[in-house]
Amino acid sequence: MKNRYEAAKHVFVDSIDIEDYIELNSSVTAYKQLEHSMSKPLKMILLFGRPGTGKSILLNRIQTKLKHQKEIYYFDTPAPTEKEFLRKLFKVLTKKDLPINTEVNFSILIDHCKSLRDKREIIILLDEAQMYDSNMMEKIRLLSDTRSVKFVISLHKTEDEDLIAKEHFQSRIWEVIELKNASKEDQATYVHKKLLKKNLFEIADSIKTREMKLIYKFTNGNYRECNKLMFTIFEICEYYDKNEPNKINYSQIPKKIIEMASLKLGYIHV
Ligand SMILES: Nc1ncnc2c1ncn2[C@@H]1O[C@H](COP(=O)(O)OP(=O)(O)OP(=O)(O)O)[C@@H](O)[C@H]1O
Ligand SMILES: [Mg+2]
Repeated sequence: MKNRYEAAKHVFVDSIDIEDYIELNSSVTAYKQLEHSMSKPLKMILLFGRPGTGKSILLNRIQTKLKHQKEIYYFDTPAPTEKEFLRKLFKVLTKKDLPINTEVNFSILIDHCKSLRDKREIIILLDEAQMYDSNMMEKIRLLSDTRSVKFVISLHKTEDEDLIAKEHFQSRIWEVIELKNASKEDQATYVHKKLLKKNLFEIADSIKTREMKLIYKFTNGNYRECNKLMFTIFEICEYYDKNEPNKINYSQIPKKIIEMASLKLGYIHV
């Protein structure tokens, strides 16, 4: 079959395309938690987890699912300056565009939010919030204090710093949802379902339990790492398929190829 590994490779290009969302045990739990928290009278909710644990795709999923019932906005990467961030907020809060060369008057924006209380309930999903500086975080807090706008703050959890322990996050976040790396089962489901969604049945079937365990061992259940590893595995398969098809076992992805891919990605060293 021509190009089958090429198609499989493309399945694992990192993206947050909502069409590719898969219901996994952990993502269903996190989704429910987040939806439940959002229905409570909270001002801020914190969604955190290490890079590649699925925060962005979860926010996108929740926005897509709830946009017909709630007024909900997704802000992807933070605006580079406070001025631009306020413009963006102005637009969603007032439903108007600010004329060019005009700056947002923050206290007017706050008054506007106060006037919206009990009229509109706005939810803003702020992705990559570790990139907002403390000035912007303070403005976010003041806006949430008006009770017309609720923020879901999504943050990277990194090895060296515990962001939640820091300044503005301490007492102000009222509910915390943490995303973790996938369990073995979830990761296996993820890999299989991603392939099945693109009708790559044979390829999905060629990754057996033992090899799946090996993939888990190298990626630790991190979805982004898993994408990288799967991409590289299929890249190697594609090479063999094109150049040395007699060396490839189409019914079972061999351990050797997984190890070659892991070597290439630096998960193992010679
Ligand atoms: N439930 C899921 N369904 C489909 N794909 C998923 C799911 N969870 C995670 N992924 C995939 O894993 C990859 C990483 O997810 P995502 O970008 O959402 O992570 P993140 O936590 O936002 O990372 P970062 O902190 O670096 O922004 C993406 O390619 C995403 O599509
Ligand atoms: Mg993200």
